[in-house]
Order: sequence, then C-alpha cells, then structure tokens
Amino acid sequence: MADAGPLVAVIMGSKSDWAAMRQADETLADFGVPHECRVLSAHRTPVQTAEYVGAAESRGIEVIIAAAGGAAHLAGVCAAYTLLPVLGVPMESAALKGLDSLLSTVQMPAGVPVGTLAIGGPGARNAALLAVAILANSRPELREKLRRFRAEQGEKVMATLLP
Ligand code: RP5
Repeated sequence: MADAGPLVAVIMGSKSDWAAMRQADETLADFGVPHECRVLSAHRTPVQTAEYVGAAESRGIEVIIAAAGGAAHLAGVCAAYTLLPVLGVPMESAALKGLDSLLSTVQMPAGVPVGTLAIGGPGARNAALLAVAILANSRPELREKLRRFRAEQGEKVMATLLP
C-alpha cells in the first residue's frame, strides 16, 4: 500500500487548520495509508476545490476528509462534487469555539451527506481512524492493524495506575 497513490485526501480551508489537521496526517501515516494533505477553500478557491474533488475518484482516492472553521461549508461543497465518502472536521474558531463550524458542517440537508466528527484535534484523529475503517472493509491487513490499535488502546487503559 505504501507505494500506491493517495487513498485519502485531507483538505482544509486554511493553513491555520494544520495545527489540528496534522493529527489526521499523523494517524494515516501511522497506519501506512497513502494520503495527501492540502489547503483548498470553498470560498477563496471555489473553482480549484471543485476541480480537485471532481477528479479525486479517478485518481484512486477513496475517502475525503475536509476540515474548515467558521461558516464551514468546505465539507458540504466537497460532498456536492463527489460520490466518495466525505468526512467533515469542524475547526475550533476564535469567536464561537467551533460551535459555528460544527453546526455548519453537521447540518447538511438530507440527500448529500457529510459524516461529521468532533471539533478540532480529536475530530481530526477520528476522521483518519474512520477513513482507515472504511478502507479496511476491503483490506484485511489494514483491518488487522486497526484491530491491534484498538487492543493496544484498551491495554493502556487497563494498565492505568492512579496515584
Ligand atoms: C476557514 O476559515 C478555514 O478553514 C479556517 O478554519 C478559518 C480561518 O481561516 P484563516 O483566516 O485563518 O485563513 O475558511
């Protein structure tokens, strides 16, 4: 899988989203999932966003993770241009702490879904894990890695000692 083209596209509305979204990048890298990360904005680069998302499936991409903050329409716009699953990550915003981003991303009218994760870093990490789970449906090796990850996570909890 490591030599293949990207299977997951991680896009974000601004470089300012990278502090949170690097967690998606790191998680996908930990699982050895080929992916690419880039900045594309639904309102600042609408044409380029549509072109990129419209071409994603033919490039072999299977999942799109889209992060944005404020009036966060990026994930919804991506979903409008592709049949690929789109996972939305609301970014924490200065004014409303990400509640604006969350509602903008999650409240898609019926018909064009966006699978919305938690605000900020935890959502970024979970978006990557959900992308792994989607890819793992048809990739037994990846499924095994995911199983191991869950087991190790549980072992850490069980080994926790309190003062
Ligand atoms: C959104 O506006 C971006 O996704 C970012 O979360 C937010 C602020 O962007 P910058 O002003 O930092 O570029 O489009």
